[in-house]
Amino acid sequence: MIKIAPSILSADFARLAEDVRRVEVGGADYLHIDVMDGHFVPTITIGPLVVAALRPHSGLFFDVHLMIEHPDRYVDDFVKAGADMLTVSLEAVRHLDRTLRLIRARGVRCGLALNPATPLTGIEYVLPLLDQVLLMTVNPGFGGQRFIEEVVPKITSLRVLLTRKQMDVDIQVDGGICAENVSRVVSAGANVLVAGSAVFGASDPGLAVQKLRRIANESDFFNEK
Ligand code: DX5
Ligand code: ZN
Repeated sequence: MIKIAPSILSADFARLAEDVRRVEVGGADYLHIDVMDGHFVPTITIGPLVVAALRPHSGLFFDVHLMIEHPDRYVDDFVKAGADMLTVSLEAVRHLDRTLRLIRARGVRCGLALNPATPLTGIEYVLPLLDQVLLMTVNPGFGGQRFIEEVVPKITSLRVLLTRKQMDVDIQVDGGICAENVSRVVSAGANVLVAGSAVFGASDPGLAVQKLRRIANESDFFNEK
């Protein structure tokens, strides 16, 4: 099943709970929360305090995307704050297997993000630890960037690999996702779609979620999951 994950990076930070409610009412599946440290990526955004503050305001699945160095140090804080899934950035982690096992041991879902230029090579060694692979379709750090078309064949390759191994791992795409390219990423095999500006930049974010879902469902040949 296709999941739509609005990214709060493009929401109004002064009215976060209100914006979150709009996408929840619109039928979003996940709330995608972008955590940036000013080191792995140039931007600084939010930390566990904001996640904890939002938690009582929403029943959505909190999909926390960590674009930070040394994520191990913060796993417990985000879990306590109410994260349902932690996705770490491959390029920011030195001992990946250890980090992924730490996340799993805390009882939350576990994701791994790959930058656009990072190949899939080696990913099979950690696939059994993953609930989700996030293929970045922009270089991480900012909302509102242009979708990088060259990532589409990587989505296909990962879907082929997962099918061959009969593994139930979600493929999430993040960056520049909008009505114009949803069909291409879903046809390639993505099933979790992050959208920031395409949702919160719309006059009605709830309707924007529904529109993305409609287009995605029309292109979803892969799964009845
Ligand atoms: C980018 C973030 C994204 C971002 C997506 O580094 O990881 O989640 O919010 O925003 P759009 O959809 O505007 O590209
Ligand atoms: Zn993100």
